Amino acid sequence: MKIFETITETQLYLQKNKNDKNKIGFVPTMGALHQGHLNLVKQAKSENDIVVVSIFVNPIQFNNEEDLLKYPRTLQKDADLLQKVGCYIIFAPNEKEIYPEPDTTIYNFGLLDKVMEGKFRPGHFNGVAIVVKKLFDIVMPDNAYFGEKDYQQLQIIKSLVKQMNIPVNIIPCPIVREVDGLAMSSRNMRLTDEERKVAPFIYQILLQAKGKMNKLSPKEITQWVNRQIEIQPLLRMEYFEVVNATTLLPISNWDDCEHAIGCIAVFLGNIRLIDNINLI
Ligand code: PAJ
Repeated sequence: MKIFETITETQLYLQKNKNDKNKIGFVPTMGALHQGHLNLVKQAKSENDIVVVSIFVNPIQFNNEEDLLKYPRTLQKDADLLQKVGCYIIFAPNEKEIYPEPDTTIYNFGLLDKVMEGKFRPGHFNGVAIVVKKLFDIVMPDNAYFGEKDYQQLQIIKSLVKQMNIPVNIIPCPIVREVDGLAMSSRNMRLTDEERKVAPFIYQILLQAKGKMNKLSPKEITQWVNRQIEIQPLLRMEYFEVVNATTLLPISNWDDCEHAIGCIAVFLGNIRLIDNINLI
C-alpha cells in the first residue's frame, strides 16, 4: 500500500495504471474510518483493479467551527485498517495541497441542496461538491463509491457528475450499522457512554415509523416521529422528512412517488447524527 500526500505523486502512480488499462475505484473519505467506510473499499476492490482512498478533512464543508476542530483525525489507525482490507493507495493531502488558494466555485443544485441537510447546513454541499470535483480531477476514477448513509450527499454527487460531464460511475452502497442498529459514523466516537446508550433509539424509531405506513399518511408519520424524539430527554430533533428519493422533496401521499425515504437529523448532546430508511 502506498500513502501519497501530493497530487503529483498520486497522478504519476495512477498514470501507469491507466496506461495498463487498470480500472480505478475511488472512495473519498474524511478519515476516522469504520466498517461503513471499509465496506465501500471492499466493494470497490471487488469491482476494480486498483482502489484509491482519499483521507481529507475538508474545512469548507463544515459550517460549525467546533465540529471541524473536533473532527477525529486518526491517520495511522486508518492506514492500518486500509492495509488489512487490501487498499492500494491512500491519498492524504494537507489543506494547501487541495486549496493552494481559496476555491470560490458556486454550484447550482436547484432544490437538492436547499432541503434537509442543505437547509440546516448552508454552504455544506457546495463545499462537498468543490472537494469531490477536485478529487475526481486528481484521481480520474472509473467508479466512485458513496454511502447511502449520506443520502442527500449521494444525490448531490450524482447531480455534480451529470452537470460537469464527469466520466465516472457513482456507485451507491448500503448503510452499515452497529449491531444495535446505530448507523456507523465517525462522530459516534464522540458520544458519551450515556448518549451512546440512547443513540440506537434513532433507528428504532425509523423502523417503527416504517411499520406504521399502512395506517398513517406521510404527514402523520412525521408528526409521530417528532413526538417520539421529543419524549427522549437527550435527543433534540432537527428534522424528519418523508421525501421522494430522487427529488428529495416532501411527499403528501404514499402513491406520490415510486421510491420514498424517511430522513432524520437529531442532536444527541452536542453531536449531530443523521440516518434514513427506505419506506417505499
Ligand atoms: P465521510 O463522512 O468520511 O464518509 C465517506 C463515505 O463513507 C461517504 O460516502 C459516506 O456516505 C460513507 N459512509 C459513512 N458512514 C457510513 C455508513 N455507516 N454506511 C455506509 N456508508 C457510510 O462523506 C464524507 O466523508 C465527505 O463529505 C466526502 C464525500 C469525503 C467529501 O469531503
